[in-house]
Amino acid sequence: MSVAVVVGMQWGDEGKGKIIDLLAEDADVIARYAGGHNAGHTIVFDGNQHILHLIPSGIFHKNKLCVIGNGVVVDPSALVHEMKQLKDAGVDLEGRLVISDRANIILPYHGTFDKEREISRDFEKIGTTGRGIGPSYADKIARTGIRTCDYRDEDRLRQKLKSNYREKKTILKDFYGHDLPDCDSMFGQLMEYRDTFLNFLGDTHVLLRDQIAQNKKILCEGAQGTMLDVDHGTYPFVTSSNASSGGACTGLGIPPTQINRVVGVIKAYTTRVGEGPFPTELKGGSGEKLRAEGQEFGSTTGRPRRCGWFDAVVARYGVCLNGINSIALTKIDVLDRFDTLQVCTGYKYKGAVYEEMPADLNVLENCEPVYTEFQGWNQSTVGIESFDQLPENAKRYIDALENLLGAGFLMISTGPERCQTIRLGDLF
Ligand code: GDP
Ligand code: IMO
Ligand code: MG
Repeated sequence: MSVAVVVGMQWGDEGKGKIIDLLAEDADVIARYAGGHNAGHTIVFDGNQHILHLIPSGIFHKNKLCVIGNGVVVDPSALVHEMKQLKDAGVDLEGRLVISDRANIILPYHGTFDKEREISRDFEKIGTTGRGIGPSYADKIARTGIRTCDYRDEDRLRQKLKSNYREKKTILKDFYGHDLPDCDSMFGQLMEYRDTFLNFLGDTHVLLRDQIAQNKKILCEGAQGTMLDVDHGTYPFVTSSNASSGGACTGLGIPPTQINRVVGVIKAYTTRVGEGPFPTELKGGSGEKLRAEGQEFGSTTGRPRRCGWFDAVVARYGVCLNGINSIALTKIDVLDRFDTLQVCTGYKYKGAVYEEMPADLNVLENCEPVYTEFQGWNQSTVGIESFDQLPENAKRYIDALENLLGAGFLMISTGPERCQTIRLGDLF
């Protein structure tokens, strides 16, 4: 049995795309378990950059099966657009991509709600991607959502859309003063994608069960990160799904007893996009330097990412919460030109030092991080492929992170390209 979950350990954008693409070499199936096209997973090889939003990051390896699980919310237009981009890039999807017939669909009114709530004075701004993720998961939990399997029955699809439409139209008009386009045109738009969906739909729980029974190697691809998890993150400044490893069970229908590896992906510093507390954020020069060196601009929305020092409280929380037993450390090269580096080991607040992640955002917003200082290395690590070749101070920094985390590094990434990686072990 070889089922591994790959999970982001911070606020997303840790470099999951690159790491999953590398790990996929040894896997048979790569399956996305949560989120939607709010995700942006970047893969770079042969000098070309590809950004995936919904399709699993194993798709560039021929003969690997890619699954979009029931836990994902699927925007039909975004998916079809991404499929076309991949086809244009010469990637064959036929027989290799399977979309769960239990996944919920994102409809145009979900995006409208998302954007209207963000600008409304009645709600706190989250800084969402505006993709309709939250409102779509809200309908799923309220049991009014439309699922991909509804495409199989045109009348049922029309009926479900009609009932939802009436409610959404009224609220959007009365509360936000927003007019929705008419229901028939929305239905017509939805139907444009029907043939594509019917061609790729499947019972992905059964498919994965069979693959596991045949001793195939499965990679469960997380989106977002632990601190954006709706239950365990910095609520309400989170996404609306379980990004942490538990989401792989519910989001793919894989029982917990069959998952035997969890890989965490973590950056050598910290970033976050959107609003919400971020104890180690650097608002001045060092933050801007991290952003410039790390090209920290959102893969989905292009927004500048907020940047700060490595936060070991966040990291340890991620290790424990997800059950992480090996880690991929990314973007170490971004720290190449700093004289000193700081690592946060606790949060000081009202005379106490917190070493566990507090639920209360007051602590995170107003605490003073407790830092340990490290000497920088002022030397390029870009593209280094062997640990021995790293500068001594980089080795010291990496060893210190490993000790703080209490889990070993499987890989250290020294650049965006596939080959710019130090491999320290095998996953399977
Ligand atoms: P994901 O959402 O976790 O897949 O991460 P993103 O793709 O949104 O953001 C990570 C960014 O960092 C992408 O632009 C990657 O190409 C880039 N990247 C990944 N690993 C490294 C690395 O080790 N060094 C540098 N400089 N860039 C990296
Ligand atoms: P990947 O998979 C970074 C953030 C948004 C916002 C919050 C809620 O590329 O790591 P949403 O649109 O999900 O309702 O927005 O979550 N967010 C991400 N930040 N990487 C992501 O995905 C993200 N997906 C959502 O910026 O703060
Ligand atoms: Mg991303």
